[in-house]
Amino acid sequence: MATTADSKVADLEKETVEVQKGDHQTTDYGIKISDPDHWLRFVDGSHNGPSLLEDQIAREKIMRFDHERIPERVVHARGTGAFGTFRLFESAGDVTSAGVLNDTSRETPVFLRFSTVQGSKGSADTVRDVRGFAVKMYTSEGNWDIVGNNIPVFFIQDAIKFPDVVHSVKPEPHNEVPQGQTAHNNFWDFAYLHSEATHMLQWIMSDRAIPRSYRMMQGFGVNTYSLVNVQGKRHFVKFIFTPELGVHSLVWDEALKIGGQDPDFHRKDLMDAIDAGQFPKWKFGLQLIPEEKQDDFEFDILDATKVWPEELVPIRYIGELELNRNVDEFFPQTEQVAFCTSHVVPGIDFSNDPLLQGRNFSYFDTQISRLGPNWEELPINRPVCPYMSLVNRDGAMRHRITKGKVNYWPNRFEANPPATQAEGGFTSYPEKHQAVKSRDLSSKFKEHFNQAQLFYNSLSDIEKAHVAKAYSFELDHCDENIVYSRISDRLSVVDLNLAQTVAKNVGGKTVPTKPAKENKGLKAKGLSQLEYQPKTPTIATRRIAILLADGFDNAAYNGMKQTLQKQNAFVFTIGSQRKGVTAESGEVVIPDHHFPGMRSTLFDATFVPGGKHIATLSKNGIAKHWIAESFAHLKPVAGLNEAVPFIAKQIALDQVKVASGKGVAESYGVVTALGVSASEAVRVSKVEKDASGFAEKFIWEVSKHRNWQRELDGLVDEVAA
Ligand code: HEM
Repeated sequence: MATTADSKVADLEKETVEVQKGDHQTTDYGIKISDPDHWLRFVDGSHNGPSLLEDQIAREKIMRFDHERIPERVVHARGTGAFGTFRLFESAGDVTSAGVLNDTSRETPVFLRFSTVQGSKGSADTVRDVRGFAVKMYTSEGNWDIVGNNIPVFFIQDAIKFPDVVHSVKPEPHNEVPQGQTAHNNFWDFAYLHSEATHMLQWIMSDRAIPRSYRMMQGFGVNTYSLVNVQGKRHFVKFIFTPELGVHSLVWDEALKIGGQDPDFHRKDLMDAIDAGQFPKWKFGLQLIPEEKQDDFEFDILDATKVWPEELVPIRYIGELELNRNVDEFFPQTEQVAFCTSHVVPGIDFSNDPLLQGRNFSYFDTQISRLGPNWEELPINRPVCPYMSLVNRDGAMRHRITKGKVNYWPNRFEANPPATQAEGGFTSYPEKHQAVKSRDLSSKFKEHFNQAQLFYNSLSDIEKAHVAKAYSFELDHCDENIVYSRISDRLSVVDLNLAQTVAKNVGGKTVPTKPAKENKGLKAKGLSQLEYQPKTPTIATRRIAILLADGFDNAAYNGMKQTLQKQNAFVFTIGSQRKGVTAESGEVVIPDHHFPGMRSTLFDATFVPGGKHIATLSKNGIAKHWIAESFAHLKPVAGLNEAVPFIAKQIALDQVKVASGKGVAESYGVVTALGVSASEAVRVSKVEKDASGFAEKFIWEVSKHRNWQRELDGLVDEVAA
């Protein structure tokens, strides 16, 4: 049976109900309830007597409530998910027999769950952390799960170390602090004692660990898998998803603040985009190494602490993943979805990657304590292709009813026989092994620093500056000298300058004077996230605020709003009160929010139209801070006519030039115009670099995401965020 994009939706519909008008409230065993608001008790009008244990209706309601929670995931507890479609535009039939990677006419339904790793289920979205990127593909041959991250490498090489790394990063055992943070003694203690983590730590301290949106992150399978084609030839493979919108991050101060201001920032961002029909898309690619070339690299290709540099192993993009449907109910879908690295389909196989081998045990095992032995039967987890086992049955909460007399194989009826390979049966790649049994790893796994240097060298200047700041922040939160001194020392194997900056900032015992390892300056492409800009510049789904008080220029407000919306930006009006603000020309606008209800952190850019309202905004501390904070967070700010001096005053930096005569000016992403009519100001032909109009320039700045030059030139440090 071939699946279609709608197969999973149709499958879930069988289990989906919606309360209809007139549906009476019943107990779980079906009787109608006459009074759900009072426990059955003795009562005489003036006094209440004891409540009666007899009340089966009250007891059922309370019992159900008492057991509403299941254990949260032991890691990646905080997350959100959505449905989508996987399409192939080029067959990979030369390297795999898997239908999902072969058949370009198919549409495979998927469920994707994004997550953070450290925090509990109720922690904030924007913490510094790896993001999970777990994809379940409901293929015609069974479920295929890619349980990946937004960072292509991992902390450890051997799965037996996973409980240690997780315990070290999670809240400390004596006080359960901190939540959603890597900035504490135990994590950095572990980090020093595991030199293999040095590469991953560079990624975690980079902007990759504070994404702007789940829609703007890459996804990596991280581990090495195998692809096997119909001739039985094997290639090693890594899976990569690259977002159409580019890879973008928050800035750290902003991420910290959003953590408190809107802890659901990322999940809302994803849901809002899907609800608005702005479906996020990722290109899907393979990095392939033929089996016979396995030993041709200076690193072991089965070591999950290493990337396969694109210069050596190019990415072959063959498909596309789109998310296009939000869940109907969080618990039975996003909370109960269960991924397993061991879920592969014929044509895809494992490798001896020692991290993957352990993961294959761990996920399958943990689902039993989280969901019980019949977790594969849950609607979100079951395949959409036919599945049948006479042997795997019974256990708590078994749901399916299987008719027939036998529950074993072979049986006298020959019921439920296995499938041959030709019939689609899964066969393992017949790999030969000759080795000595031992608790060890092969020699190439012992080199830990080359790729940490490669990554750091490949970053742009601004990204390097962010890495130094991130280490400094994290180690500043460690209060045991041995922890922060050791880490700042260790950094000298990566880059002396980085090690020195961090040692000075955090008060390391000594400031390193010599590199602990020569850095030859080797770089690789694809590591700096600035390389991933959208192919066509866009401001689609960017959140843009327009600030208003009574007396604003309505033509400029309306014109800009419509212009931005035409480009598919999400525009929000922030006013002095939600009751309504009145334009100079008398129109009343009902703002989406009032100033105390919102913060600049929750928007990508801000526009202030001209008009007499500037006098009011100049006396509003939140509006004034909004501009300064937006500037400090490197966001585009635009002001027209009367708004120009208001903006200049909040930024108050000579280096930032605003329009001083008739015309449009752009300086450090601050776009201003004087003596320009509203209709002239909002004229836009396209999103392009050499735009000359006011709105055009603003849109171009928004499409660039942030103005890094402000920080590189030291302007940010002078403005109070
Ligand atoms: C390549 C390194 C790894 C990556 C990319 C990774 C990724 C993930 C992701 C994305 C999730 C969340 C799945 C979801 O959304 O439900 C997850 C959960 C989990 N991971 Fe990993 N992980 C890695 C290493 C490991 C290792 C080495 C182990 C254990 C040996 C492990 C054990 C777990 C467990 C137990 C869960 C919770 C699963 C659940 O309750 O559904 N992970 N991991």
